Amino acid sequence: MIDPAQIKKDFPILNREKNGKTLVYLDNASTTQKPKQVIEAITNFYENTNANIHRGIYDISEEATALYEGARETTQKFINAASKSEIIFTRNTTESINLVAYTWGEKNVQKGDEIIVSMIEHHSNLLPWQFLAKKKGAHLKFIPIKDDLTLDIEEYKKLLSEKTKLVAITGMSNVLGTIAPIEEITNLAKEHGAHVLIDAAQTAAHQQIDVQKINCDFLAFSSHKMLGPTGVGVLYARQSILKKMPPFLYGGSMIAAVELDSAEFAKPPQKFEAGTSNIADVVAFKSALDYITDLTFNEIQKHEKELYKYAISELSKIEDIKLVTPPEDQAGPVITFTIKGIHPHDIAEALNSENIAIRAGKHCTDPLHKHLGLIATARISLYVYNDKQDIDRTVEALKKCIKIFA
Ligand SMILES: Cc1ncc(COP(=O)(O)O)c(C=O)c1O
Repeated sequence: MIDPAQIKKDFPILNREKNGKTLVYLDNASTTQKPKQVIEAITNFYENTNANIHRGIYDISEEATALYEGARETTQKFINAASKSEIIFTRNTTESINLVAYTWGEKNVQKGDEIIVSMIEHHSNLLPWQFLAKKKGAHLKFIPIKDDLTLDIEEYKKLLSEKTKLVAITGMSNVLGTIAPIEEITNLAKEHGAHVLIDAAQTAAHQQIDVQKINCDFLAFSSHKMLGPTGVGVLYARQSILKKMPPFLYGGSMIAAVELDSAEFAKPPQKFEAGTSNIADVVAFKSALDYITDLTFNEIQKHEKELYKYAISELSKIEDIKLVTPPEDQAGPVITFTIKGIHPHDIAEALNSENIAIRAGKHCTDPLHKHLGLIATARISLYVYNDKQDIDRTVEALKKCIKIFA
């Protein structure tokens, strides 16, 4: 069973105080905090093993290569990819999705083709496809949401046709917390011969991912949203597709042979990792994956669900709060809300004065906010170190904020 009091001890930043109050961190959908195991892995790398990888014929370079490739293997197992070479390290989810748009998309999407995304996408899984569609004369189609803030799968079925080249969908909304039925969405897309990309930026920290079971072609996520360092992203892509994809960036580390006027590229994943990689952070990302694996997703979900229920019930008692959440059984640990007459930035500011960090704004989902008729929202997002006391302090601070603004 997860004991947040025990877990908190691994996260030095949670000891930070303001006016005698410890930090309550509830902006995990934006980025998570880092346990000392991850911080120590970075320090340890620079103190003992720092060297460039894949090229040095000396001890520390060979050790650094083994650590970096070990992180790739751990990532492969974490999402059950069929092969280690299906894992490409990027900077973040955004870069992973752009990589697919610029390489696979450039080659395969043609005039008149259709790309399906949903109304709830983060800008990172919308703008690359907008750009590609405009450039190629292709069309973007949108899966709508129902009144209960879940995806309308019946409408999705109507959008699919032989023109559908790609379905690019988030596994979990960073605003609503809505969990998308990604296996069903993928199966339906496959019936029409379309490729599928899953934006797992919000999923990877909270749910077991099995890319072979999902049967998707691409899946993207970020280390920093799952206890790991910033500057590390993952792109999973099916090997048969990767082999045919042109490179994204050109230069060192991604070649097999070079002539003055031509080049032969290395095999994936090296073909897609040009230049010196973010070695230390990739190595530390392994420690984050190990930390999550040790906790187990079963226990993480039990903890999150219990805390989510508690938070929803406590927030629902405050009359002026309007929750923007889907049915509980289709929700991840994200609670978005508004308060009558108080701008979300003022809510976040009021909570900050109590040393409570939440997010306020449009959360990189302008079209979704427009659709909901909201100029901005406030968002609480939970993770393994949060506990009921964090929720109690937040609820008290919200009551105080309402009183002040009234
Ligand atoms: C659903 C979703 N997709 C993509 C991203 C972009 O992630 P990153 O900033 O790590 O590239 C985010 C970040 O909040 C997200 O929530």
